[in-house]
Amino acid sequence: MIDYPKPDDDEEQADDCSCQGGPTESPTLYSDARAELRRRDFAKFLATVGGLTAVASLAAPLASTTQVFERGYEGPVYSDGVHLVDSEGERVTEGRLSEGDLLTVFPEPRPGIEKAPTLLVRYPESEYSSNVKQGFTVSGYAAFSKVCTHAGCMVSDREENVLVCPCHFGRFDALDGAAVTGGPPGRALPQLPITVTSDGFLVATGDFEGPIGPGGG
Ligand code: FES
Repeated sequence: MIDYPKPDDDEEQADDCSCQGGPTESPTLYSDARAELRRRDFAKFLATVGGLTAVASLAAPLASTTQVFERGYEGPVYSDGVHLVDSEGERVTEGRLSEGDLLTVFPEPRPGIEKAPTLLVRYPESEYSSNVKQGFTVSGYAAFSKVCTHAGCMVSDREENVLVCPCHFGRFDALDGAAVTGGPPGRALPQLPITVTSDGFLVATGDFEGPIGPGGG
């Protein structure tokens, strides 16, 4: 059975700061498992895959957010047809979220990538700016990596449409393609292309558009 994290999805609460230093301090990037990730595995991973990104759940526990990638795994987090699942492993249906809601999702389990956290948001499509890749959205849904592009913390807070990283208060506007609106992050959270299957489930149509987490900017 897959050991999914148990985030209180949809709830706006600060969770894990998986980078060291905590709020207001200069990060030293990842702690514990993520420290390993930061090292050559992560560099190799990004260099090899190039286009990875992951985001995560509101309030995902620290343990879950420090294991975004399995060591040694090299490959896409998502690919065409991979279902988005919630923290219980349930496939996400088109009707799962109301407009304005947010949910942390993951790629349906495959070796090494089952915990890649992704933020799924839903807004009226007319509210998205041109920075949201319309071809990556469906039925008002857009998905972004939950891994902060500054130092790899989970973007786990929210102020209306602004996604907030609790570590150093990086801010990303979900309606503007998760573009940075405040704090130290240097680039937007990468977007994941998604669609709805004929039987009503949300699936990816490819991998994240850019690198996951720090680096790659
Ligand atoms: S890790 Fe520093 S703002 Fe997110």
